[in-house]
Amino acid sequence: MADPAAQLPRHIGIIMDGNGRWARRRGLPRSAGHRAGIQAIRRVMEAADAAGVHCLTLYAFSTENWSRPRREVATLMRLFEQTLKAEVDELNRNGVRIRVIGRRAQLSERLQRLVAEAERTTAENRSGVLNVAINYGGRAEIVDGVRRLAEEGRDLTQLEEADLAGALYTAGLPDPDLIIRTAGELRTSNFLIWQAAYAELHVTQTLWPDFGAEDLRLALLDYASRDRRFGGVLDLS
Ligand code: FPP
Repeated sequence: MADPAAQLPRHIGIIMDGNGRWARRRGLPRSAGHRAGIQAIRRVMEAADAAGVHCLTLYAFSTENWSRPRREVATLMRLFEQTLKAEVDELNRNGVRIRVIGRRAQLSERLQRLVAEAERTTAENRSGVLNVAINYGGRAEIVDGVRRLAEEGRDLTQLEEADLAGALYTAGLPDPDLIIRTAGELRTSNFLIWQAAYAELHVTQTLWPDFGAEDLRLALLDYASRDRRFGGVLDLS
């Protein structure tokens, strides 16, 4: 029988979409959708942990999301601050290491301070990893990685894939095996474009604020049913 652990993704990336639609269907402001989205994050982290998946990357704010109305951007930034403040202690108690990935220089100084503090507090934790992508873009990440290698004086004409992988925000983590996208769109939207080169995609119609343990179970089942070939041939023997 196949090893069940081999059927479990080591790292899941989640494109949390549909907060706005969730709110609109209820006649609520979009901010209510984002708030409900935070409850979904709690549920999913718990369910992932119980299932044995200990590395999650959440796409919370893309480099393109700055073009949203100013008030919505401000609400999201406030939510990031409040949530970081409110959750760090419990995540720390649970042994989860928090990392924020993205171009953080454009975040407010207050948020940058909170991020740095959360990362410092949880740096030695080894039971799980929670990456939160804020002001994140996959292309920007690759550009930043190349710039970093150039700044270190590396000979870029000799660059190997492993060198660049080691210069990305996710250095040291396994690549995501599974990317989940909620709310139905069939796009990866500049999320972990290097790391997810061989990831399986699971798209659900469920809106992010409605996503819960059962949705995660279905995503894991879907993942386990895939035949992962990493570019190899299909052996039908
Ligand atoms: C997409 O829904 C969701 C976002 C752009 C924001 C996601 C953020 C959260 C769930 C809060 C996260 C907080 C932390 C601390 C990680 P949308 O607004 O694009 O929905 P729509 O497509 O239905 O309009």
